[in-house]
Amino acid sequence: MLDLDAEVLGAYVDEVTAWIAQQAGDRPVRRILDLGSGTGAGAFALLRRFPAASVTAVDADRAMLDRLTGRAHELGLQERVQPVVANLDEGWPAVGEADLVWASGSLHHLAEPVRVLESVRAALAPGGVLAVMELDGMPWFLPESADPAERALEARTQELQAQARAEHLPHMGADWRHLLEKAGFTVTDRVLNISVDAPLPPAGGKYAAAVFGRVAEQVGDRLTAEESHTLDRLLAALPQRNDLVIRTTRTALIGSVPHPAP
Ligand SMILES: C[S@@+](CC[C@H](N)C(=O)[O-])C[C@H]1O[C@@H](n2cnc3c(N)ncnc32)[C@H](O)[C@@H]1O
Repeated sequence: MLDLDAEVLGAYVDEVTAWIAQQAGDRPVRRILDLGSGTGAGAFALLRRFPAASVTAVDADRAMLDRLTGRAHELGLQERVQPVVANLDEGWPAVGEADLVWASGSLHHLAEPVRVLESVRAALAPGGVLAVMELDGMPWFLPESADPAERALEARTQELQAQARAEHLPHMGADWRHLLEKAGFTVTDRVLNISVDAPLPPAGGKYAAAVFGRVAEQVGDRLTAEESHTLDRLLAALPQRNDLVIRTTRTALIGSVPHPAP
């Protein structure tokens, strides 16, 4: 799912890394720390953007890091990537100073994001920046012209998933500007209204299938019989559809640490 997201929405990540480079100005970015790196979508985009940099990729899930390391070898980037297995809820890992800390889609997983953000602030080299990408839900895939029953189902599943997340991931959709400021950062942010029109590239259809498949797993038991039937029909027809779109919103934030008074 992460790899598909990266493949389909990679252009938006590149837009954010360009913004980071602009904010960094002349300041060299050599040491990057990727928190909750997953399979490395952000890490590889940052290595492309900052050719003199290497990335320390931190994740609690070893399988994610194994996949990231495998991809680094495929791309010939293994010398520039250091994986570190660490659960950020259990303390700050020994990762040294960083010029740039990147956290994409990971802060909302943490039990106490502000505590981790305070550690980020302490780990940043003077003049370094924190870049965060966050989301408040899964993408929408059905166009306005889709069958009304399917559109109603998509709206219903988004609502049920939001309810489920409120129980398990209470920080998803949080006011990240506020939380970064609470941890001592000066913040600038921008909202990315992501819109990819039909026909999607092949990875787009796979992404839609993965997202709707997860709906069935996560909230299938909360659907009515009629809604379940519509979902089954939708899932069966997805591979042949060429009218799917992607609509989603991501928030990007850059946090800097005010210089101490001379
Ligand atoms: C939604 S994924 C985002 C991955 C990647 N940053 C991206 O944008 O594709 C969230 C990642 O955070 C990791 N994660 C969640 N809780 C964590 C924790 N407490 N400590 C370290 N990593 C964590 C997960 O294992 C997962 O790889």
